[in-house]
Amino acid sequence: MYQEIDLNNIDLSLAPPAEEPARQYYFMAKCRKLLQQQEEELGRPLTFHVTTFGCQMNARDSEKLSGILEQIGYGEAAEEQADFVIYNTCTVRENANLKVYGHLGRLKHEKKIRPRMMIALCGCMMQEPEVVRRLEESYKFVDLIFGTHNIFKLAELLAKRLEERGQVVDIWENTEEIVEDLPVDRKYPFKSGVNIMFGCNNFCSYCIVPYVRGRERSREPGEILREIERLAAEGVVEVMLLGQNVNSYGKNLPDPVNFAWLLRKVEEIEGIRRIRFMTSHPKDLSEELIQVMKESRKICRHLHLPLQSGSTRILEKMNRKYTKEQYLELAGRIRKEIPGISLTTDIIVGFPGETEEDFEDTLDVVRTVGYDNAYTFIYSKRTGTPAASMEEQVGEEEVKDRFSRLLPEVQRIARERALGFEGTVQEVLAEELNEHLPGYLTGRMSNNLLVHFPGEASRIGKLLPVRLEECRGFYYMGRAV
Ligand code: 5AD
Ligand code: SF4
Repeated sequence: MYQEIDLNNIDLSLAPPAEEPARQYYFMAKCRKLLQQQEEELGRPLTFHVTTFGCQMNARDSEKLSGILEQIGYGEAAEEQADFVIYNTCTVRENANLKVYGHLGRLKHEKKIRPRMMIALCGCMMQEPEVVRRLEESYKFVDLIFGTHNIFKLAELLAKRLEERGQVVDIWENTEEIVEDLPVDRKYPFKSGVNIMFGCNNFCSYCIVPYVRGRERSREPGEILREIERLAAEGVVEVMLLGQNVNSYGKNLPDPVNFAWLLRKVEEIEGIRRIRFMTSHPKDLSEELIQVMKESRKICRHLHLPLQSGSTRILEKMNRKYTKEQYLELAGRIRKEIPGISLTTDIIVGFPGETEEDFEDTLDVVRTVGYDNAYTFIYSKRTGTPAASMEEQVGEEEVKDRFSRLLPEVQRIARERALGFEGTVQEVLAEELNEHLPGYLTGRMSNNLLVHFPGEASRIGKLLPVRLEECRGFYYMGRAV
């Protein structure tokens, strides 16, 4: 975990140390010096902004980027004003990818007006060689390009850019390395994501993640627990354990452990009141995990269990390694063992070869499980994945038709599920001031439902009993009791 290190005590006349994280602290000190020179020339402090696309993993990575930049001495500002803009990109679906190019067009214009401005791109999209080639050829105004494996190197890359002219590009194809103990700037003082593993070994046939995030690597449990203890000491009450496939946590460690074991250990940490995790793969979800969740006082009553498709035939082509029946059995068992649990999911519509009958199977699972929420996606072809070269890509009209039949069904069921809590009192973590309703707070129930209720800013970060007065579809209006 990050220790207070006095960057002013680092001797920059020496060569940079070879080992991490000391090497990065050296470069943070170096950047700080270079930045101070620039600030003196300009007569004002310099600012940064990190714009995040995609998932919780990226959100957490962005907190690390911000932490490094704050150590260096940048202050945070809105994107339009910032001297240093970083886009932490996503490439899981093509539209995430296109958005970045859209933003870049605007930044190019911005940089013409403010030539000293710096632009960095990092994250999943940068792990695709054709993206980097395109940036190198046609987007020369981008100053820094790095990937998912070396975000910890931001200070070193920035130092290089500040000392030399031209685009700095550093992409690693893969890594075994997990660099610990770097600064992090948390978005919320009372809750935090905690990486427990990186990468994915599942190779679902539609998914680009294993190619851009690399092979599965678990963090040492001691490092994770130490980080959470420190977070608790800083006032964090809720942690979200993050990994592409948390159910296989620890299998490849020198001293193997499992996810259920890790959860028990996290549960013991004083001060932590709520534990969440993301994402579970149905094929690896153990009976032990269900029992740990059932017995736990801290693990939230919410499980995100991506279905992807309800058709066994399509699931096989997706390389998901479970059948419709196995999924239904698992979901049924979870619902029975942990009453009141909220089950949410991800569904892809229009995977190559999906027929009307396959789609009906998906609808059938949606109705049988009765999801509390479901994220529905139109299949997006990702170059390099096995599904991209599958024949029988489904026509656009057909996919749209299926999508427009699935969405209202998912929403109808989610509303019905939410309605079931009306009139009850639930423990709610007050998270922020409501932007639209002055005098109101927005909080989250253990099952992840949002509640808006009258309250003052001083209660943010507290767990409060709230009566759920009125269900408005996917959220509640309530009152603290
Ligand atoms: N097309 C559409 N959706 C996808 N997802 C992953 N890859 C694709 C793709 N190629 C969805 C899956 C996953 C979620 C994070 O994104 O449903 O669970
Ligand atoms: Fe992608 Fe499948 Fe890994 Fe999830 S489990 S990141 S969908 S390959």
